[in-house]
Amino acid sequence: MVEVQRVSKTFQRIGKNGATELKALSDVTISIREKEFVSIIGPSGCGKTTLLKIIDGLTPYDGGEILINGKKVTGPGPDRAVVFQTFALLPWRTVLANVEFSLELRQLPREQRTATARDYLKRVGLADFENHYPHELSGGMQQRAGLARALAVNPSILLMDEPFGSVDAQTRQLLQEELLELWQREQKTVIFITHSMDEAVYLADRVVVMTPRPGRVAEILDVPLPRPRIPDVVRRDPKFVDLTNYIWDSLKKAMENHH
Ligand SMILES: Nc1ncnc2c1ncn2[C@@H]1O[C@H](COP(=O)(O)OP(=O)(O)OP(=O)(O)O)[C@@H](O)[C@H]1O
Ligand SMILES: [Mg+2]
Repeated sequence: MVEVQRVSKTFQRIGKNGATELKALSDVTISIREKEFVSIIGPSGCGKTTLLKIIDGLTPYDGGEILINGKKVTGPGPDRAVVFQTFALLPWRTVLANVEFSLELRQLPREQRTATARDYLKRVGLADFENHYPHELSGGMQQRAGLARALAVNPSILLMDEPFGSVDAQTRQLLQEELLELWQREQKTVIFITHSMDEAVYLADRVVVMTPRPGRVAEILDVPLPRPRIPDVVRRDPKFVDLTNYIWDSLKKAMENHH
């Protein structure tokens, strides 16, 4: 279980006119069950990436608490892995070596690292590309490689920051379906940031709507759609249509209240 309790974050910047403060997050509370899939949606700059980095343990926070299974988060750990907004693959390493990279911090023998990395590349459909370099892959394939790298450490919590933002609509649809299959198979907790209402609803058990900066939780909505979710069926379900419309209104309202 991931408990975000009244978390706030203010960034300090030293500029020409002295120190300025920017409040990115204010009093954010979200409680995420084990194996739950939660989407987070909110305007650009409202602190979504910041929140994900705080949960990952990369960014210190100045108010509130993050608890994972009751234990306070004080830094990164093997229970969590991030798939970043940008691909973040190492360009000078092959696909296989990129996936092995996340295993190098563990004290695993070399052959075991390679075997594990190969296994995850197979799971994301990149078995034939292990010796390619990132620039030789399409955007969707780079996303898959990033996913394989995060999965290879077998985290129980997968943190995803707009992982499918930069691929075409068809590839995005395919990656969404693959992610759901994988999530169902591997039983992980997923926190998934997106700008797409359609994607948020299609994937998640619950959708968190955030306000403009400083980001707060505007609403948390249940997604009452059955699984497995067949894309064409789900998107024609009146509940799907209603919910995406509702989220659109909720985001609009959050923006209006802000100004
Ligand atoms: N390291 C940092 N130092 C100073 N300010 C930062 C830092 N990281 C983020 N910010 C500021 O915090 C605010 C929230 O940024 P964040 O990246 O979390 O937004 P976001 O919701 O992920 O936006 P987007 O949807 O565009 O990705 C922004 O105003 C940003 O300028
Ligand atoms: Mg972001």
